[in-house]
Amino acid sequence: MKTLKIFAAGLVLGAILIVLGVYLYFVTGKAPVAASAEPMPFEVMLAHRALNARIQKEMPDHAPIAADEANLVAGAKTYREHCAICHGLPGRPETAIAKGMYPHPPILLEGKGVTDDEPGETYWKVANGIRLTGMPGFSQSLSSTQMWQVSLLMAHADKLPKAVADEFSAASSPDLGGKSAPAK
Ligand code: HEC
Repeated sequence: MKTLKIFAAGLVLGAILIVLGVYLYFVTGKAPVAASAEPMPFEVMLAHRALNARIQKEMPDHAPIAADEANLVAGAKTYREHCAICHGLPGRPETAIAKGMYPHPPILLEGKGVTDDEPGETYWKVANGIRLTGMPGFSQSLSSTQMWQVSLLMAHADKLPKAVADEFSAASSPDLGGKSAPAK
């Protein structure tokens, strides 16, 4: 009986020390808060687990529109206006905004991007955003059709028609979407 009591007291004390340790880590300024700092222990793993679990529960399982040329070109226009500033345009230098962000916005139009994700997963991210990362949610500023168009564009980024490349070259620089000559 006595050993059981000592054991229970040890458990309680251990729990208090852990809570105190975590509290001290935050209030003494040890936790990374700068965009340029390294992530906290377990931060990346836990954040990804939580995000994936929520998306699996809520993402739509199929796109309500076709990935045809008209929709991909419309998606490219939305991308140029709302996404390129962070995620970049093919062959254009990274913007000052993208350079200074943590986590860093991934390149979505070159290499694999998110072509291996279901369009429904990308749609969820575009609509809701990703908390504490700088990735905005667009459900209040874009229509559902616009969000599907840009999600289909992301899913087909490795096999886009020429008309889409033409839409991108209409951007004067990644930080805006003017119609002047392409910047160097
Ligand atoms: C202000 C900067 C910013 C803008 C604007 C922005 N994003 Fe993001 N986006 C981010 C960041 C930062 C991440 C990385 C989040 C993370 O690490 O979990 C991200 C992540 C993503 C991802 C997930 C990538 C992956 O590997 O799973 C997708 C898809 C995405 N963005 C699409 C878009 C689309 C489409 C738009 C435009 C409608 C857009 N983003 C606009 C900053 C931005």
